[in-house]
Amino acid sequence: MRGPGGAWAQTIASSMTRENVATELGSGPECIARAVQLLREGEVVGLPTETVYGLGADALQPEAVAKIFEAKERPYFDPLIVHLPSVDWLERLTDVPASSRALVGRLMEAFWPGPLTLVLPRRPLVPDLVTSGLDSVAIRMSAHPVFQAVATAFGGPLAAPSANRFGRISPTCAEDVRKELDGRIPLIVDGGPTEHGIESTIVAVEGTALRILRSGPITADRLAQFGEVRMAGTGQKIESPGQLKSHYAPRTPMSLGDVAGGGKNVGLLAWTGAGHGFGAIEILSATGDLREAAATLFAKMRRLDEAGLERIVAQPVPEHGLGIAIMDRLRKASYREG
Ligand code: TXA
Ligand code: MG
Repeated sequence: MRGPGGAWAQTIASSMTRENVATELGSGPECIARAVQLLREGEVVGLPTETVYGLGADALQPEAVAKIFEAKERPYFDPLIVHLPSVDWLERLTDVPASSRALVGRLMEAFWPGPLTLVLPRRPLVPDLVTSGLDSVAIRMSAHPVFQAVATAFGGPLAAPSANRFGRISPTCAEDVRKELDGRIPLIVDGGPTEHGIESTIVAVEGTALRILRSGPITADRLAQFGEVRMAGTGQKIESPGQLKSHYAPRTPMSLGDVAGGGKNVGLLAWTGAGHGFGAIEILSATGDLREAAATLFAKMRRLDEAGLERIVAQPVPEHGLGIAIMDRLRKASYREG
């Protein structure tokens, strides 16, 4: 059975999870060479991208891809993004219909390498495990120099989800990858804190139109210059298995709320200004800069999560431009069943 909700959905890989691997953390040319060697051996490696850190593996080796799911305890119904070493790989992995070719070409020209992921019809070369049995595959090219160095030397496509345990906060620095996956992966390559701080924008190309499946650094306004833009998530059906209601979540319960009335056991994730009477406060951007807010969002959420609080209140940010992607993350991090 193909597609989300099918046979794939029944298995969560946690029973296979390794807990006793020695996790190295390093940087520089030798570390990059070691990463490439491990990837060739079918291992998983933590790698920096310009959005968040990823957990990379050879996208064409199902056994290597399986290790990603195991390390993250990610359910098999949630497909992975494939990162290309060069644009010529697009033709080998995807079958872009003639009606979409011009649009795809213009998007690649404008945004690759960079934080835009395109969902396109796939070719059989892409393993089922990568796409969760879907007929499409999500593809991007990272602009991070360290990721590019690894991908180029490796010479093939790398499957890489964010390097966090399933449902948790995405890591934006190497140390945060270690907090998520220590003992489960052999190597983390440190490329410094990530530039954008939130995951890539994901769009499905539908003829000459675009459907945004996940908002991110490339905003709807910018995409609208290339074709009609539709927003996913208005219908009942989950179009991207990653559109789960709960995601990016701290362990401490979080809710969206206002800056008034906290208490010493409550933390505040504020937009521009401090509230009072909270046990801990993190301000996303004192100057009201949405870029700064996105770039530091997950690190600040993680700091509050580590502060031993009973709950966290997140103040909404203005919901335009990059604010749409930030509010998406805050809502999912705050979502509670029931
Ligand atoms: O910025 C990013 O995109 C980061 C870095 C590491 O590249 N990666 C990332 O991957 O955020 P991940 O696995 O955490 O999120 C990928 C999302 C998932 O929600 C998944 O459901 C969706 O992409 N996705 C993957 N393949 C898809 C497909 N064929 N159709 C629809 N959605 C897809
Ligand atoms: Mg993720």
